[in-house]
Amino acid sequence: MRLAVIGCGYVGLVTGCCLAETGHDVVATDNDPNRIATLKAGRLPIHEPGLDVVMQRASAASRLRFTGDCADAVRNADAIFICVGTPPLESGEADLSAIDNVAKQIAAASSSSKLVIEKSTVPARTGDQLRRALNVYGRSTGVTFRVASNPEFLREGTGVGDFFHPDRIVVGVEDEESERLLREIYKPILEGDFCCPVHQPGCPEGRVTSFLVTTIASAELIKHASNSFLGLKISYANVLADLCEKLGANVDEVTQAVGLDPRIGRQFLSAGLGFGGFCLPKDIQAFIHLAEREGVDFSMLKEVEKINKRRIDQLMEKVREALWVVKDKKIGVLGLAFKPDTDDIRFAPAIDVVRRLQSERAVIRASDPVAIERARTVLPGMTFIQDPYEVARGADALLLLTEWKEYRELDWRLIYSEMARPLVFDARNMLSPKDMQSIGFEYHSFGRPDVSAAMPVLVG
Ligand SMILES: NC(=O)c1ccc[n+]([C@@H]2O[C@H](COP(=O)([O-])OP(=O)(O)OC[C@H]3O[C@@H](n4cnc5c(N)ncnc54)[C@H](O)[C@@H]3O)[C@@H](O)[C@H]2O)c1
Repeated sequence: MRLAVIGCGYVGLVTGCCLAETGHDVVATDNDPNRIATLKAGRLPIHEPGLDVVMQRASAASRLRFTGDCADAVRNADAIFICVGTPPLESGEADLSAIDNVAKQIAAASSSSKLVIEKSTVPARTGDQLRRALNVYGRSTGVTFRVASNPEFLREGTGVGDFFHPDRIVVGVEDEESERLLREIYKPILEGDFCCPVHQPGCPEGRVTSFLVTTIASAELIKHASNSFLGLKISYANVLADLCEKLGANVDEVTQAVGLDPRIGRQFLSAGLGFGGFCLPKDIQAFIHLAEREGVDFSMLKEVEKINKRRIDQLMEKVREALWVVKDKKIGVLGLAFKPDTDDIRFAPAIDVVRRLQSERAVIRASDPVAIERARTVLPGMTFIQDPYEVARGADALLLLTEWKEYRELDWRLIYSEMARPLVFDARNMLSPKDMQSIGFEYHSFGRPDVSAAMPVLVG
């Protein structure tokens, strides 16, 4: 099929490249000329493992093309995926102006009937507004539009594998033709008919993808409901961590046992610095706003937000408690991205922590395996150092803010010998308190007993 993808961010690029890999002809467009120039030069503007391979292969097979001209992408397409950003407004409501803008462009460029698919995360009932906008903007042409919702559940860092091997594909439609087109688009994925760069030589067998056909409003709601529940699980684990700290229990032990209940599950039940990124915080805000608009009391989600925001304060309290005076202390920061395997720093808790340390006039040196360039744009004047050992050298404290595998595998004995004061705040509960204590660190994490070198090492 001939597909257009509008918006070449994380979702648009993964969607466009992967659908091209499965045999469709894809033209992707973005209104950011620099982004399009980078893509046309064969480079990716984002860090997403495996995506470069998919992009190169699809481009070489002439199934994927990038253009800055939206009309060029839309004109010959049978179906159009809208993948533009829906950031939060000051009120928490989703800003849908990019969707409206795109509707105008689609209507102006279309001379034949199209299926327009919302892949961006949008509040329920956006589909109705989108259909109305397309018909109003295209009224002089007489072209008709079908609208569908196809929320995306990919996770940055594992986006390519998630797109090729989803647990569910949700399509919200209002007519049989839209369902037929979406089944055709996803047929190769449902049948495993693609070359997966994530699993070589072959993908694991026995994985089943559910193809769920719903109304448009349900599909829109499913995405917000999923992300809000994930945020809720994280905040739940974080309050458990607070309680464990008071009671001298260990939150890892508690969440491990709780999560072994298949009705609960282990994932997203991890205590730490809380959630960030472009999805969870804004989707929860938008969901709260939607519920309020409809007169439904979902204040439980306000608590989830509040608990999440408090994590930064709690980390700062731990830092102040251990350092006494933060001003002029040399602090090393490991991790800036909102989670590992991505360079995305949008709503990253690490960036907030750095800003708080800056406001207390600490002397900060920060590192991240891939997010330094992006972090530079929001933290001007900060010192960034790629080498984590160099960040630790001479530091009065080291803060672990993103759970990169690379940091778990550091030579912590070497770091111990390089630091001015061997003090570590592991805001992601990545390392073992026992191991850190045996090296001699003063070590703080969330919901697990703090350890200091002065305490005896517990064996057994
Ligand atoms: N990032 C994720 O992991 C993820 C996962 C699932 C769903 N989503 C949702 O998908 C949507 C996109 O997210 P993202 O992370 O890819 O955002 P992004 O900001 O990385 O990308 C959006 C892109 O759209 C472009 N754009 C904006 N207005 C445009 C216009 N009028 N015409 C053409 N291009 C335009 C921007 O230049 C940008 O490149 C959001 O609604 C998000 O909530 C994101």
